Amino acid sequence: MSLVRIQNVMSNELGKRTTITRPPEPPHDYLLNDPANSIFVGITKMFEVPFTWTFATLTNPHIAVVGITGAGKSFFVKTFLTRASFVWNTNAIIIDWAGEYKAWVKQSGGTIVALGKGDYLNIMDLSGMKPLDRTKQIMTSFEILTDIGLYPEQKRLTEEAIEQAYVNFGFNLAETPPPEKEAPTLKEVIALLEEKLQEGTYEYPAELENAVYRLRQFSREGEDYFARKSTIDLGKLASSGLVDIDLSGLPDERFRALAALFILQTLKEKMRMEGWSASKGLKAFVVLDEAWKVASDDRSDAITIVREGRKYQFGLIVASQNPTDINEAIFSNVGTTVVLRIKFERFLDYLQGSLNFSDFLRREISKFGVGQAAIDMSFQTNIEFPGTFLIERVIGEIPLDVYTINVSEVLSQSELNDENVQKEYFLEKIDLNAKLIENDVPSETINDIFKELDTRGRLIDIRALVQIMLSRQVSKESIVNFMRALGISDTVITRAFLYVT
Ligand SMILES: Nc1ncnc2c1ncn2[C@@H]1O[C@H](COP(=O)(O)OP(=O)(O)OP(=O)(O)O)[C@@H](O)[C@H]1O
Ligand SMILES: [Mg+2]
Repeated sequence: MSLVRIQNVMSNELGKRTTITRPPEPPHDYLLNDPANSIFVGITKMFEVPFTWTFATLTNPHIAVVGITGAGKSFFVKTFLTRASFVWNTNAIIIDWAGEYKAWVKQSGGTIVALGKGDYLNIMDLSGMKPLDRTKQIMTSFEILTDIGLYPEQKRLTEEAIEQAYVNFGFNLAETPPPEKEAPTLKEVIALLEEKLQEGTYEYPAELENAVYRLRQFSREGEDYFARKSTIDLGKLASSGLVDIDLSGLPDERFRALAALFILQTLKEKMRMEGWSASKGLKAFVVLDEAWKVASDDRSDAITIVREGRKYQFGLIVASQNPTDINEAIFSNVGTTVVLRIKFERFLDYLQGSLNFSDFLRREISKFGVGQAAIDMSFQTNIEFPGTFLIERVIGEIPLDVYTINVSEVLSQSELNDENVQKEYFLEKIDLNAKLIENDVPSETINDIFKELDTRGRLIDIRALVQIMLSRQVSKESIVNFMRALGISDTVITRAFLYVT
């Protein structure tokens, strides 16, 4: 009898024996999908397999994207959304914290909703929801964003006043509302609380006053972004192609977070009503970029959506520079995590703890160049193989060489609301270059200007542009002529200079 016996083993059988072979990438079948029904992302590093993403084999369609600034998060998201739209006709709603997707969405023919710059959302809008449910959601948002949770009496007063406002507007709290019926706003809620205060019969007037004070923060004249009739039809958001909800015009993080929470709640409810069906595919992706408060708080709908996995016909994409801003529950539940370059040890610790990848991968991640990524996926399978693998680089759509000059900061409120007043000027790189040359800007300065523009994501405020040109000794006359050549009016040009020292 020989000591070694040759055994016939099928390769898939061998694949299951992870203790012996430990394949460094998931099997090809999982990475390479039908190109007509999946999204190409890049080539795997180890076996050079074209990796195409599909939600069909995953536990859910949600995605987390992390990486330091400049690592390529937004680039990945843009590429991904573009291809999803080609392949599945998927709509996209970008909750755009810093306004960084705006120029791209505009170039792609999408819609921009600029909150704080002419667009409003009434957070009491129902979009088909029962008033009782909406009231609960509004209260949850207030609890995430303010300390009202610590004051049960104020919470109760506010909640009751919101419900009363719906009743006064003719709604039945527990019933699905008629579609066209107009909802009250926070201003009506405040009026009710003030009335109660005036009556003087309530035994804790200080609580009442504080409740009013809290609500007023969201309804002051000029800051009543969420306390007016909506200018957007939220019900249609998930079927409107590419939509950028630009939150950069809102005064602070609290307002931005309120908008983000409200939009997520509304989309979730809408999708819940429609339900999940595998045959219909993915109707939309919702992108949350840098919305830390929304991605980290346990009570946020971002967490519920990811936890509930496949229940909805949309995928949530959460992106952040700081992985610790993304709730652990998101990492442990999303079907896909895209890890771009991460430098800080504590972020690497957090990620490695949540995703459980090897020290080899950890070292690779800290050395990544732009666009290089580790992908972690949760497949629906009992077969064991490592879920994390490297791709050479996210292979993107070729970016358009378009630069955007934004003038809205020097426009008045009425000009901002006027559709005929141009707020942004788009220029191809070649055209911009030609206009600078024609107006006697030296080539060294032109290079500097393009460098500045590129670090700002090719989007610049007119005042900043004037400042840069002046600091590079370009004459006022040249600047004015250059701006006129772009089609910018003399009044706007004059105002741009007014702000510059
Ligand atoms: N895979 C890639 N291939 C080619 N260029 C890329 C790739 N990824 C990113 N870039 C380019 O690198 C720059 C930075 O990328 P991006 O804006 O996506 O970074 P980010 O991670 O979103 O940064 P931030 O956190 O500051 O928003 C952009 O000019 C982008 O076009
Ligand atoms: Mg980005």
